[in-house]
Amino acid sequence: MGIWSSLIRSAGKPKFNSAVLLAAGSGKRFSDDTAKQFAVVGGESILVRSAKLFQSSEDVQEIVVVTRETDIPGVRNILNKAGITKVTRIVAGGDTRQESAKIGFDAVNPEADYVAIHDAARCLCTPDMLEAVFESAFVNGAAAAACRNPDTLKRTNGTDLVTETIERENTWRVQTPQIFKADIYRAASYTCAKEHFSATDDCALCEHVGFPVHLVDCGPMNLKITYPEDTVIAEGILAYRERAAAEGAKSGKESAT
Ligand code: CTP
Ligand code: MG
Repeated sequence: MGIWSSLIRSAGKPKFNSAVLLAAGSGKRFSDDTAKQFAVVGGESILVRSAKLFQSSEDVQEIVVVTRETDIPGVRNILNKAGITKVTRIVAGGDTRQESAKIGFDAVNPEADYVAIHDAARCLCTPDMLEAVFESAFVNGAAAAACRNPDTLKRTNGTDLVTETIERENTWRVQTPQIFKADIYRAASYTCAKEHFSATDDCALCEHVGFPVHLVDCGPMNLKITYPEDTVIAEGILAYRERAAAEGAKSGKESAT
């Protein structure tokens, strides 16, 4: 841990932080049969990989898992077997990701200082990435993993007709974890629910009420599994990390991701 991390942490170290792990989707784009959170990547299920991230983090004291009602007993069993001991509640999710995130947030310990919301499907997030997003959230109140967008973006009018080219320079692809001071997220979520404001990520709730959100560059390897092909990319990333770790061990260096 660097000197700045130590200073930030010692300045106002939060006492209790919760993670909300979102695994209540049906993974329609991934497969018609298996919900993708149960698919295996690199010898381990997507759900277990994501749960281990929070289990091993000293910043996280509890994990609330949001899943489909029928999957609750199976999920409990899988996580127990994998040695995930920080789970305090497993709750049934809603019809949309936003609803599931609200249900998960409402189920965390009411005394939680910070809450990290994470898509179980984003199973390649590393402890270093998680720590970096926590550090930004401790300083700024709201922070999200993201990566700089490498492509030129075009807007269309709902067909294939281009109506606008969006300047690439300052565009990012937002990922998870997204981490918030609990009081800030609670207020934002309450206002957005009252105003029927819907969004596809959690930061947008804070943005909607005017609270500044900061991004942490986690690079493109913090991949979310969406399509079946993504598992091939994920296996490649895991192999790359293994090689990098072995080379780092040989030369006495730590690997970055
Ligand atoms: N999610 C959730 N509740 C929902 C929808 C999604 O908890 N009602 C979770 C998913 O399990 C996933 C994350 O939110 O971990 C990101 O959603 P996405 O990648 O869209 O997953 P799915 O909704 O499962 O996939 P699809 O959209 O292809 O059906
Ligand atoms: Mg979805």
